[in-house]
Amino acid sequence: MALDATILDLNLYDTKVDLKQTGSFAKQIFKDNPLVPALIIYDQDQYVGMISRRRFLECLSRPYALELFTKRPIAVMYEQVQVSILELQGSTPIVTAAQMALGRNDDNIYEPVIVRTVDNGHAVLDVHDLLQAQSYIHELATKLLREQTQTTMFQTEKMASLGQVVAEVSHDIRNPVSSIYGNTECLLTYIEGVMKILRAYEKEYGTTSPVISETLEEIDWDFVRSDLPQVVRSIQSGSRYLRRLVDTLQSLSHMEDKGETEMINLHDCVESSLTILSGRVRNVQIVKNFTDLPKVSGYTDRLIQVFMNLISNSLDALMEVQASPDLIRQRDQMIIKEGEPEQSSNVLTEINWQPNLMISSGLAEIDNRNWVSIKIADNGLGIPKEIQNRIFDNFFTTKGQGKGTGLGLAICHQIITQQHGGKIVLRSPYLNANGDVTIGTEFEVLMPVK
Ligand SMILES: Nc1ncnc2c1ncn2[C@@H]1O[C@H](COP(=O)(O)OP(=O)(O)O)[C@@H](O)[C@H]1O
Ligand SMILES: [Mg+2]
Repeated sequence: MALDATILDLNLYDTKVDLKQTGSFAKQIFKDNPLVPALIIYDQDQYVGMISRRRFLECLSRPYALELFTKRPIAVMYEQVQVSILELQGSTPIVTAAQMALGRNDDNIYEPVIVRTVDNGHAVLDVHDLLQAQSYIHELATKLLREQTQTTMFQTEKMASLGQVVAEVSHDIRNPVSSIYGNTECLLTYIEGVMKILRAYEKEYGTTSPVISETLEEIDWDFVRSDLPQVVRSIQSGSRYLRRLVDTLQSLSHMEDKGETEMINLHDCVESSLTILSGRVRNVQIVKNFTDLPKVSGYTDRLIQVFMNLISNSLDALMEVQASPDLIRQRDQMIIKEGEPEQSSNVLTEINWQPNLMISSGLAEIDNRNWVSIKIADNGLGIPKEIQNRIFDNFFTTKGQGKGTGLGLAICHQIITQQHGGKIVLRSPYLNANGDVTIGTEFEVLMPVK
């Protein structure tokens, strides 16, 4: 039985009697069908009501009842036992039905329920069956909830210990990386000095000595001389990158302690997020369109996390298309169907589709206030209108098991709106920088300027 089962899914009885039939006839039916909780009463073909087994037996146990009722039409008894009957549509969910059944007064609480079937007929539902089903559903719901909580707990625990590892490892790497970076600076200065000395020697003594010229040739001195500083410079830029990565990882893994707000340039947060995700953005063309921004007040690590979540969702969307380019063709065909036929020639873009990530910044004025705006947009498949109002919900994901947690956007929303007084807006499709309607997804983060 499913969580959303209705009373039509339960065991129903449709044993009927006519008002004109005798009490002993009804008694015989109850005797022959020991499970039937009530008889549905008809007048000719017209539904009248029901009489439950309990009421029937109660009636018969009264003094003189046997003589009174058994030989007479059931109508006589029905007249005396008439109670209000709970009648429900078959489409009523079991949980609702149980609530209504239990909401009756004490006298009626165990009376069967009349169910309206699809073809407007009537059937009888035993309250005992109803309550049993309700308790089963309750158990099912609790179990599902427990499973969900447990999965989330495992996930959270995993993330927490992962965070610990990241914090430790980045701490350990930080010193050697800083030392490599710092030393390259010295190395470059030293190399310059050595070169100066060599030039001075060259000038004083020339390179005419055969031993010297042979050695110069042997080590390909002309090449080494020009390449050496470049080698060191590339070590320097590599270690600068590593240092920045380590810094960001460290500040991210210390998320729990709230810390102080700082005045932040949001571009730096975006850059840090891109650094962390650099392994994943390799095949994607990133277009940045930054304008000068005032600083905003906030928590650096959390804002980095917001941009990481947004960019990472965009990358997922772009990878989805890359993995099956057919999706683009289907999407374009849908647009052709919806749009004007003469435009269709411009729409067939699947041949030159390239994964794009557009990040732009700017200032906005909303509600007489100034805001800094960062837009993150991709040309993936976009988000269907039907689910757009659910994507910020906890645990809402369209990604397969083990892939999505459904927490990314919920966290973004929480961080931006509650911790920073900002806004986060989804547009899909959206207008690109040229004002063209673009298929894909855009998230705009708006942060208040003090
Ligand atoms: N850039 C995007 N393109 C397409 N769909 C998106 C994009 N960003 C978010 N979504 C949709 O929103 C859902 C929720 O996102 P999120 O909260 O980050 O959870 P998760 O990424 O774990 O699924 C995703 O499963 C996806 O369906
Ligand atoms: Mg996500």
